[in-house]
Amino acid sequence: MSEPILVAAAWPYANAEIHVGNMTGSYLPADIFARYQRLRGRDVLMVSGSDSHGTPITVRADVEKSTPYDVYQRYHAGFLEIFQKLGLSYDLFTSTHTENHKHVASSMFMALKENGFLYKEKQMQWYSTSQNRFLPDRYVEGTCYICGYEGARSDQCDKCGNMLEAEKLINPKSKIDGSTPELRSTEHYFLDLSRLQDLVIHFLKMRESYWRPSVLRQSLGQILTDGLRGRPITRDLDWGIHLPQEIQQEGKEWENKCLYVWFEAVVGYLSASLEWSQLTGDKDAWRKWWQDLNARAYYFIGKDNIPFHAIIWPAELIGAGEQLDKNLGSQKPVTMVLPYDVPANEFMNLEGQKISGSRNWAVWVSDFLSRYDPDPLRYYLTVNMPESKDTDWDWDDFYHRNNDELVATWGNLANRVLAFAYKHWEGVVPEPGQLTSLDLDLLSEVEAGFNTVGQEIDAVRLRAALAEAMRIASEVNKYLDITAPWQAVKTDKAAAGRAIYTAMKAIDSLKTLLAPFLPFTSQRLNEFLGYSGNLFGTQSTETIEDELGEHTVLRYDPSSATGKWEPSQLKPGQRFLQPQPLFRKLDARIVEEERSKLGKPRD
Ligand code: MF3
Ligand code: ZN
Repeated sequence: MSEPILVAAAWPYANAEIHVGNMTGSYLPADIFARYQRLRGRDVLMVSGSDSHGTPITVRADVEKSTPYDVYQRYHAGFLEIFQKLGLSYDLFTSTHTENHKHVASSMFMALKENGFLYKEKQMQWYSTSQNRFLPDRYVEGTCYICGYEGARSDQCDKCGNMLEAEKLINPKSKIDGSTPELRSTEHYFLDLSRLQDLVIHFLKMRESYWRPSVLRQSLGQILTDGLRGRPITRDLDWGIHLPQEIQQEGKEWENKCLYVWFEAVVGYLSASLEWSQLTGDKDAWRKWWQDLNARAYYFIGKDNIPFHAIIWPAELIGAGEQLDKNLGSQKPVTMVLPYDVPANEFMNLEGQKISGSRNWAVWVSDFLSRYDPDPLRYYLTVNMPESKDTDWDWDDFYHRNNDELVATWGNLANRVLAFAYKHWEGVVPEPGQLTSLDLDLLSEVEAGFNTVGQEIDAVRLRAALAEAMRIASEVNKYLDITAPWQAVKTDKAAAGRAIYTAMKAIDSLKTLLAPFLPFTSQRLNEFLGYSGNLFGTQSTETIEDELGEHTVLRYDPSSATGKWEPSQLKPGQRFLQPQPLFRKLDARIVEEERSKLGKPRD
C-alpha cells in the first residue's frame, strides 16, 4: 500500500552559514523529494539536524574565542530561520547535542561492542608539544597521501573524498599554530570494518543496478580495490558524546575521550526519528520507517559525505543488528532498515570558482533571501542541481532563468489566464461546453505529466522532473497561441470560455506538478484558483530542555495538508480570486550588483 519513505538529509555542521552549494547539494533535493512523496500519499518522515560536535565546531570556537556550545547554538538558530524561509519541510530538524541522541549513539556503540565489532588498540595520533594536547581530525592539515591534495584534513580529504588514516598524512601542520605535530601513542576503540566487509559488499551489490555511478565508485569500487580496514571511532577530545559509563570505567583516560563525530552524526537519522516519535506522542512511531521491510530510506548528501553514508553507516547498522533495538529497550528486537538509495550530489561552483566561505566567494542563503523570494532560488538551484557533474551558479544565468523561464513560461501563463478569466467571466470558472480534440489533447498531455514528472522524482532525477513540468507549461502556452482566447472573446465568447476553462484546468494541474519545487507560489496559486486549503502542512519551532542544555527544533505538521498528486479537479462555476503576479521580473542590473559583492568582506 503506502510505503513508508524516510527522507534523510545531511546534517549541516553548526560551524558555518549555509550557502547555495550546500542547499542544492542535499537539503533542497531532500525537501523536493519529501514534498512530492507526501502529495503521493506516501508516509514520509524527513529528519535531520545540526551536526554539533567534533573538531569542526571546536576549531571554530577556538578561532572565535568562544565555546563550542555557543558556536553550535548560534549557527543552529540561523539554520532554523533560513530553512523555514526556504520551506524545508523537515518533520524534525534537531541536533546531535541532545540527551536523546547521546542515548541512541551510545546504544549503537554498545551494540557493536556486544556483537564483537569493536576492538581497542593503541594508535599513533598527532600531538602538539606546544599545546600539550592531541590534535584530532581537523586540527591537523596536510597533503593527502592518496591524491596529493595539500589542504587535506587528517581524517578526510575533500578533494578525493577518501577517509584518511591520520598518521599517514604528509607534511602535517597544526591548525592552531602552524607547528609540526609529532606522533604519540593513544588508545582508541576501532570499528572492525574488515570483519564487516563481506556484508557491506553484499549490501552494495544489491543496490548496484540503480545507484548513481559516482556513489558506487566511492563505495563498492573503493572496497573492491582497497578493502576495508578498522577505523578508530573515538577521539581525544572533550566536545562531543562522551563514552558510555561502562567504557569510562575501563580507566581514567577514557573519561576524556568522545565518539568520533562521524560515527555518531550518522546515528542522528535514527535518533531524530526517535525524538520525532516522542514529540508526536507515539514513542514507537519511528519503527514504521526503520523496521518495516517495505520502508525505503533515501539519504540526500553531498559527494564529500559518500563513504560515511554508503559504507560506515550501513556497516554500523549491519554490525549492530538486533542488539541495537535491544539496547534501545525493545522486548522483541528487530534489525534496522538499511539505506535504499544514497543519491549524492556533486558540487556547485560560483561564477567559475570553487565556493569558499573564508574568501566570501559564496552566495549565502540568508543574504539571498533578504533581497529575493524563496521559489526563484529553489527553481534556479533545481535546474542547476549538480546531480551528475559539478555545476556553476552564474548570476547572469540566474537572471535569465528567472525572467525567461520562471516568469515568462510559468508565472505569466498563470497570471495572464487568471486575470483574463477574472475580467471576462467575473471570477467564475467558465462553462466550457463540448471540448474539442485540441482541448482534450492538452488536458491528457498535462495529465500524463503526473506519471512522467512523478517517475523522474521517484528516481531522484529532479532536474529532469522540473524540466518536464516546464515543458508541459510551454505546451499550455502553445495551446493559448493557437486558441487565442484574447482575440476570440470579441467574436466567439463560448470558444474563448472553452479555451480559458481548459487552460485553467491545465494551470491547476501544473500548480501541483510544480508544488514540490515551488511550494510558496503553488500555494498562492491554489488560493487564487479559489481553493481554501493548504497544499502542504505547516512548520513551527519548539524549544526543548534536557541534561545537555536546550535545543530548538523545527517541526512539520502535515495535518492541514490537502494537496494530492492528481490532475485538476477544477469545476465550471468555481469562484476564484483576482490573481497577483507569482514572480517578480528582475532588473538586469542585479547581475553586476551581485557580482561586485563576491570576494569582498561582508558588511
Ligand atoms: N556535517 C556533515 C557535513 O556538513 C554532514 C554530516 S551528515 C551526517 O558535511 F549524517 F553524518 F550527520
Ligand atoms: Zn585526497
